[in-house]
Amino acid sequence: MDAHVNVPQDGNFTIRPLDGLMGAKIEGLNLSATLEAPVVHDILDAFLAHHILIFRDQDLSKEAQVSFTENFGELEGHVHRLPNGKKLPPVHIVNNLDPEGRPTAKPHTTGNYHWHTDKSYHAVPSLATLLHARELPPTGGDTLFANTTRGYETLPEETKQRIEDLRVIHSWEASRRNTGNAPATEAEKKDRPPVTHPLVRTHPGTGKKALYVGMHTSHVEGMSESESRALLDSLASHTTKPEFVYTHTWRPGDLVMWDNRCLLHRADTNYDMDKHRRILYRTVVRGSLPF
Ligand code: SIN
Repeated sequence: MDAHVNVPQDGNFTIRPLDGLMGAKIEGLNLSATLEAPVVHDILDAFLAHHILIFRDQDLSKEAQVSFTENFGELEGHVHRLPNGKKLPPVHIVNNLDPEGRPTAKPHTTGNYHWHTDKSYHAVPSLATLLHARELPPTGGDTLFANTTRGYETLPEETKQRIEDLRVIHSWEASRRNTGNAPATEAEKKDRPPVTHPLVRTHPGTGKKALYVGMHTSHVEGMSESESRALLDSLASHTTKPEFVYTHTWRPGDLVMWDNRCLLHRADTNYDMDKHRRILYRTVVRGSLPF
């Protein structure tokens, strides 16, 4: 951690919804400690209600972050490999570093700077992602979240009816293409074959419908590529309009946990990437089959 953080010790905590569409701030908890079942229950209730939880003033080791994550389900491993071919450990380090550890505007992947929902190129995609700030630029390096439930709910009735039963192919290959990253290798394509998900998914916890789009989408089943792209891009633009977006400006010690079933997210390049390191530890809770 690059800054001192006063980790709370007394166990009294508050959950305060943010002004606006989503998000709540949780203060007064030490996430490195074992949490009692009623506390985990309160966190889960807040998670369903607010979709983005911001825990302030934390200083978690990787092991403590894994233990905290496991309160909410099975820890999801990674299929990605590092440039040296090794598999990523369960705590993935999000960063803008070159192989020598220097900040760069051209890190080996820039996927996190495009709107996406985690692992939608898996048959069983991610439920929650937890990101813990370890080193931050002096300003900027924000993370943006778009509410895909509101995106769906505000579509014209005619569009809702048109897209209701459509299914979309998501793939790692399409993701690399959509984001201008190096094409997927043959080994990656074999590891991560394309999968199909509903375009409108129902949140298993709230019963609400949400758009399931983002950078991992390839095309709509049974639709031409150009027609698909126009539809998917227009839905993604709609649901990422400023009125549906919360921008998180990181503070040292923040741990943010979000719901991939009803949000898109992306990092912002609003910092001097060649000059400042931005390092966050990331853990993921495995989800269930979207329906
Ligand atoms: C992610 O896409 O999981 C990370 C987002 C970020 O870098 O802020």
